[in-house]
Amino acid sequence: MADHHVRVLTDDELRPSLELFRAATHRPPDSDANWETLRHGYPPGRQFGVFSGDSLTGMAHTFGARLRTPGGVVPMGALTKLGVRADHTRRGIAGALVRHHLRDCTERGEIVAGLRASHTGIYGRFGYGIATNARQYNLRPGLERLHADAPAGGSVRLLDRTEIGKTVPGLVERIGLYRPGMMSRPAEWYAAHLDLPLNKGEDIRFAVHSGPDGDDGFVGYGTVHDGNWAEHSFRTILEVQSLYALTPQVYAGLLRFLLSIDLVDEIRLWQRPFDEPVEWMLQTTESLVTRHHSDELWLRLVDVPAALAARGFPDDVELVLEVRDGFLPENTGRYRVRGAEVGRTTAEPDLTLSASALSSLYLGLATPATLAGAGRLIGRDEESLTRAGRMFLTPQSPWCGTFF
Ligand SMILES: CC(C)(COP(=O)(O)OP(=O)(O)OC[C@H]1O[C@@H](n2cnc3c(N)ncnc32)[C@H](O)[C@@H]1OP(=O)(O)O)[C@@H](O)C(=O)NCCC(=O)NCCS
Repeated sequence: MADHHVRVLTDDELRPSLELFRAATHRPPDSDANWETLRHGYPPGRQFGVFSGDSLTGMAHTFGARLRTPGGVVPMGALTKLGVRADHTRRGIAGALVRHHLRDCTERGEIVAGLRASHTGIYGRFGYGIATNARQYNLRPGLERLHADAPAGGSVRLLDRTEIGKTVPGLVERIGLYRPGMMSRPAEWYAAHLDLPLNKGEDIRFAVHSGPDGDDGFVGYGTVHDGNWAEHSFRTILEVQSLYALTPQVYAGLLRFLLSIDLVDEIRLWQRPFDEPVEWMLQTTESLVTRHHSDELWLRLVDVPAALAARGFPDDVELVLEVRDGFLPENTGRYRVRGAEVGRTTAEPDLTLSASALSSLYLGLATPATLAGAGRLIGRDEESLTRAGRMFLTPQSPWCGTFF
């Protein structure tokens, strides 16, 4: 990295940095019209570039958010785009950008960092681990009805297209981070993920669910078609991109609404929590097909003791963790953990693990026994693994639900 340096990008350098990313991911530059919307998506001071001489050769776009953990909400630094010019790869540029970003998180008091990985082989070495996962499932509305015992749900209303941009951010805030792994969506997030598709005229609709206490869920969806009329194979597919449901009752109300929409051959629900009770709410499950399991949020504990204390653990169990963190060595050490108390110790560890493995335990996705079986951590003995299992247990599977 001797010939390169990392610094904050100026406003004029943001568009070239996005173009660098698009080229690195094999896409053409965005149009001027798209950029007019996208340029509002960058919180100042936290977009980074690597310069080799005067040339921009790598970039990282980041923003700040809040992450729900099993015991509270913590500040998170989110890395949303990382790209290196094809003629400068494998020279440590991505590593330098991630290091710069994590240092920036430390300065901002962001005790965890998150990203979505397009290559799952890269980020473990930087201390990130898979912390939430999701499934895509498809339904055939003509064949599926909700079970008679499924909750009634409340009322559902469609938003006018002109209301969507103004209404959805407030709804997201109102409904809140109702399960571990969910993150806030800062104002800048909407530029690429809501304003751009609306301004481009994409098919995007929102329906809002209301219960006794007001709006408590929504579904965002659009349609795609396949087949053709001439061969009588034309099909309409409803793609659910986003669904927030504060309770299972709300989920039932939204699912019933989706199943009631006419002229739909298939409903595809993307990136849903694994424990969403769809199987248990349907009369029959023949048409329910789970198509895809995927990792979702990759997490990194930037300040290990602070992140452990903020997560919260049961008060009646104690555990000693030995964390090995090659990328941020200040985290390396042994920690005694009980409830919200975390302190350095010299006691013998119950678990010895990398920063990356700790990230996969943090929100309750993986169990210590599973990671031990995979060779990702060492448990002192069976009893330690069982105790650690109780310690990290969460009642719901962690789910993020926000792409960034
Ligand atoms: C992926 C990318 C950012 C890596 O940048 P880079 O500057 O070449 O990475 P570095 O030189 O810092 O490499 C860091 C480490 O990751 C490894 N690595 C880099 N790219 C990798 C890949 N695609 N698959 C597996 N490992 C990879 C390197 O071998 C290196 O390993 P080491 O620490 O054991 O030496 C770059 O290739 C790129 O821009 N790709 C296209 C865009 C993209 O995929 N972005 C990421 C997701 S949005």
